[in-house]
Amino acid sequence: MAHRVNVRESGEHFWVEPEETVLQAAKRQGIRIHSDCEFGGCGTCRIHVTEGQVHYEDDCLPMSVADDEHAAGMAAACQARLRGDIEISLANHQDDLPEAQEVDATVLAVERACTGIWRVRLQLPTGVEMDYRAGQYLNVLCDDGRTRSFSMATANAATGVLELHIREIEGGRFTQHLLPTLQAGDSLRLMLPMGQFYWREKDWRPMVMVATGTGIAPIKAILESLLDNDDCPPISLYWGMRTAADLYLAEEIAAWAERLFEFQFVPVLSAADDTWTGARGYVQHQVCEDFPDLSEHAVYLCGSPTMIDEARALFGLQGADSQFVYADAFNFQTDAHAVAV
Ligand SMILES: Cc1cc2nc3c(=O)[nH]c(=O)nc-3n(C[C@H](O)[C@H](O)[C@H](O)COP(=O)(O)OP(=O)(O)OC[C@H]3O[C@@H](n4cnc5c(N)ncnc54)[C@H](O)[C@@H]3O)c2cc1C
Ligand code: FES
Repeated sequence: MAHRVNVRESGEHFWVEPEETVLQAAKRQGIRIHSDCEFGGCGTCRIHVTEGQVHYEDDCLPMSVADDEHAAGMAAACQARLRGDIEISLANHQDDLPEAQEVDATVLAVERACTGIWRVRLQLPTGVEMDYRAGQYLNVLCDDGRTRSFSMATANAATGVLELHIREIEGGRFTQHLLPTLQAGDSLRLMLPMGQFYWREKDWRPMVMVATGTGIAPIKAILESLLDNDDCPPISLYWGMRTAADLYLAEEIAAWAERLFEFQFVPVLSAADDTWTGARGYVQHQVCEDFPDLSEHAVYLCGSPTMIDEARALFGLQGADSQFVYADAFNFQTDAHAVAV
């Protein structure tokens, strides 16, 4: 028996057959829900279930939905199935985001940013109109038939040059084996733009931005898009790394302070040596110490899924409203790791 899904904002509805996911049914009936990986990993298709419940195969939550988020009604539409009627909010899917397109980009440079991290510059083909929101990511289409996602560290495509910050993954086919062999002039097939991590101007709240590792890349793009913007809210940026030598963007970030309205930057090191006089430990704990009350803030989280899960839980206890918490988790892309509900 099919179950009905009412869309809160538009009053539209669609039907989900027993063998379908919510995303498949929405697509079939012309309801727009942004999606990417379709295996529960990227979080692009997350919807808010405002009435009723979804369930997942084998009762396992997909990677992109944490336990407490599931309890609060967050669902990954690409994995969610129904046993009854539901109402959903598609507020996160209403922004008119640019359509993704496939392009061949040319490698301009692949350089070490610091140990274990590469800074890659790509040239988009001339004559291709490309638009994206600062903070979105792209997919590299690889020969093994899989995609690898990387956030764009550049605010826009005006110059035709994109920058990526890529962490080497031990044993990683792309990041450890192919990437170091790439040379200027090589070609990469890309699909972009993807994802829903971008600045929500309409929130009008002071922002707390939290990154670990290369999670700084999309935040760099967002902050660069806000330089010299008179409507820019106050921003506190926390960047978690292991050692001072890893802070490959620290100088650039410090220079943004002059062109952003009320900006503070707090690097937090988890394995600093004795010479480090700044914050130590895990970045999410430092935010909790500095912001006992997050109820008036918009929070942007990017990087390690573990940091993001913990930050969501901790910040919730500090009053953060989950409606104003935006996250881009750098999940694994090989398989749909799932956790039992
Ligand atoms: C939306 C999104 C945006 C992303 N943006 C960035 C970015 O800007 N910069 C960046 O450095 N990374 C980013 N990532 C993570 C990146 O896509 C993966 O690290 C990459 O796909 C690994 O590819 P690989 O071929 O080297 O590894 P694979 O050959 O695919 O995997 C090798 C092994 O490493 C494990 N693995 C794969 N990915 C990770 C990971 N992220 N962490 C730990 N273990 C992993 C796999 O399970 C496997 O066992 C992003 C991920 C997502 C979902
Ligand atoms: S499209 Fe559903 S989690 Fe990626």
